[in-house]
Amino acid sequence: MISIIGSGSVGTSIAFLCVCNALDDVLLINRTKSKAIAKSLDLTNAIPSTSKFSISGTDDYSKLIGSDIVIITASTEVPLNDRSENISQQVTMIKKIAKKIKVYSPSAIVLIVSNPLDVLTYFFQKETQFSRFKVFGIAPSLDTNRFQYHIAKKFSILQSSITNALVVGEHGDTMVPIFSNIHVNGHFFPMSDVEKDSITLNVRNYWKTLRDYKTRSQFGIAKNVYDVIDTIINKKEKIIPVSLVLEGEYGEYNVAIGVPTKIDQDGIIEIQNMDFNQSEKNLFKISAKTIRNNIQSI
Ligand code: LAC
Repeated sequence: MISIIGSGSVGTSIAFLCVCNALDDVLLINRTKSKAIAKSLDLTNAIPSTSKFSISGTDDYSKLIGSDIVIITASTEVPLNDRSENISQQVTMIKKIAKKIKVYSPSAIVLIVSNPLDVLTYFFQKETQFSRFKVFGIAPSLDTNRFQYHIAKKFSILQSSITNALVVGEHGDTMVPIFSNIHVNGHFFPMSDVEKDSITLNVRNYWKTLRDYKTRSQFGIAKNVYDVIDTIINKKEKIIPVSLVLEGEYGEYNVAIGVPTKIDQDGIIEIQNMDFNQSEKNLFKISAKTIRNNIQSI
């Protein structure tokens, strides 16, 4: 069973993808029971006629029992200018949720989507003491999509022609696009510092650009989460950057941060050790310090 905590636009978009693709039974949990029920009743009408699965809604966390995957999209408030602006309320919320998940679905893989992503991934793992390879944040792959989009747009090339473009670090203003290994149609693709700075700014501010159009990210993050759920449920393998607690990898401790990994049905099976250039290593260190400072501010 796939359980989604938070029945807002992101949570229900993830549920919609899971239902339409008949991945598994889906449970929507929301603090407002009527909203979870309402969305599940609507989504029920999207279940393919050939599917053997169902969707239901509740505010009762005990219904989590039997969850293989739990996705946390809940938010106390929507951040406007910085993903960490509601950090204390969000950490309080994630600790309460963690206590319930530890009781009702101790063997589930947990995907964190709520912001501030890295800080909440860290506190969830510490609160539950679940394996750090079964608690990870989904957003670095979204940032990587955005990175590929802006490279394609700037150079008028197909996004599908770009390989090895990757974003690591904080899912926030210190995120680190990795330029040093980008290839286009199989050939290394160097860029000037001016080009790199412009693309970096656009990627970091993508979420604010959505705000300029009076919207928030919904489908991009939902598809990135769905791809991970599909990998787990259908026993696939996927190389993807995610946020997880590091214990010495990339020289970092006591922090959750976006790094390249390999995942399969058991969660994270490998933290990939990529060779960043010195500038990228320095930026990654700054990003880790930023997240650690936010963790220590709680
Ligand atoms: C964004 C949210 C998912 O980057 O943090 O749009």
